[in-house]
Amino acid sequence: TSPLRLGIAGLGTVGVGVVRIIRQQAALLEARTGRKITISAVSARSKDKDRGVPLSDYAWEDDPVALAKRDDVDVFVELMGGDAGPAKDATEAAIAAGKDVVTANKAMLAIHGQALAEAAEAAACVIRYEAAVAGGIPVMKALTEGLAGNDITRVMGVMNGTCNYILTQMQATRQGYNALFAEADKLGYLEADPNLDVGGIDAGHKLALLASVAFGTQVNFDAVALEGIQNVTLEDIDAAHDMGYRIKLLGVAQMTGRGLEQRMSPCLVPSNSPLGQLEGGTNMVVIEGDAVGQIVLRGAGAGEGPTASAVLSDIIDIARGLRLPTFGQPAASLTQARAATAAVP
Ligand code: NAP
Ligand code: HSE
Repeated sequence: TSPLRLGIAGLGTVGVGVVRIIRQQAALLEARTGRKITISAVSARSKDKDRGVPLSDYAWEDDPVALAKRDDVDVFVELMGGDAGPAKDATEAAIAAGKDVVTANKAMLAIHGQALAEAAEAAACVIRYEAAVAGGIPVMKALTEGLAGNDITRVMGVMNGTCNYILTQMQATRQGYNALFAEADKLGYLEADPNLDVGGIDAGHKLALLASVAFGTQVNFDAVALEGIQNVTLEDIDAAHDMGYRIKLLGVAQMTGRGLEQRMSPCLVPSNSPLGQLEGGTNMVVIEGDAVGQIVLRGAGAGEGPTASAVLSDIIDIARGLRLPTFGQPAASLTQARAATAAVP
């Protein structure tokens, strides 16, 4: 069988993690897919940066769009980030050239997901993005595959490792934002623009993607009622603690009589509950289905290894020939759900 040849754009926390796994686990990946998984070419902004993994075996492209269109690339792996610019340009170029796409980019998909899904289907390509939602937790696969026989009634959880890290560390160490930002940065958690993290926007992107797959609706990030953690103080955390609660940036998506409700905001959760006990960069996603009841998924939501693990799962699916629609059902069949919450309350 022919090898599956990758072009990887973005060699930061996640991209390096993906290169590392492909180099270290070549035999395991081949055994599990029946194909060699190889890297043809890579791209990043700076060619000369030492990234801690050998890159000299791979062709270098300065331009991610050129990388996406290369003849020796079967799958374009987009790990640059950003909802527009080179990530979107290169993803569109890859689809136009008939390549499958694997990405960790929730911002791009939350905003342009419907158009990209339609383009991918028209070109008979697939877009996979397990890493985009809750890092290492296989929540997209849970929804699109394991729970596909359920009418999903609610999806909720803690979906941003940075915010969970900052909120739990504020309580544990009594440090403020700046010191904790630096810690989260060292752990590889932060978005290039950390305002996306603390503003709740990154978690809102993830919730919008989850809601689309869970409820068969077109992804609608604008309808997420958003509030970040910037205004949470040590006094708030202490007051919550005294009452037996912890403050978590909690997302909830559910279909109501008024339409699809999507909220991402700091909430009080009981200290002794599973959500209340969630520490550090950990994420937790709770899914409720009519047949299965409640499923709780918990694990690392960010960082090199967990995120690269999710990217590899998508690459493996493509190597195995699994070709699911982007949002779990054909893009044309996704409904435009009326939004129950269109503005920040
Ligand atoms: P990162 O460490 O900032 O790395 C971004 C990479 O993209 C860098 O290698 C950068 O090049 C490259 N890049 C940026 N602009 C480029 C351009 N115009 N042309 C070519 N290369 C460009 O980011 P990351 O943390 O790995 O995140 C990557 C993606 O994964 C994002 O969409 C993020 O939201 C998502 N994600 C991250 C995590 C996580 O835990 N970090 C988890 C889930 C999802 P240089 O290195 O040369 O600057
Ligand atoms: N910045 C994100 C977080 C990375 O902290 O959860 C994972 O999506």
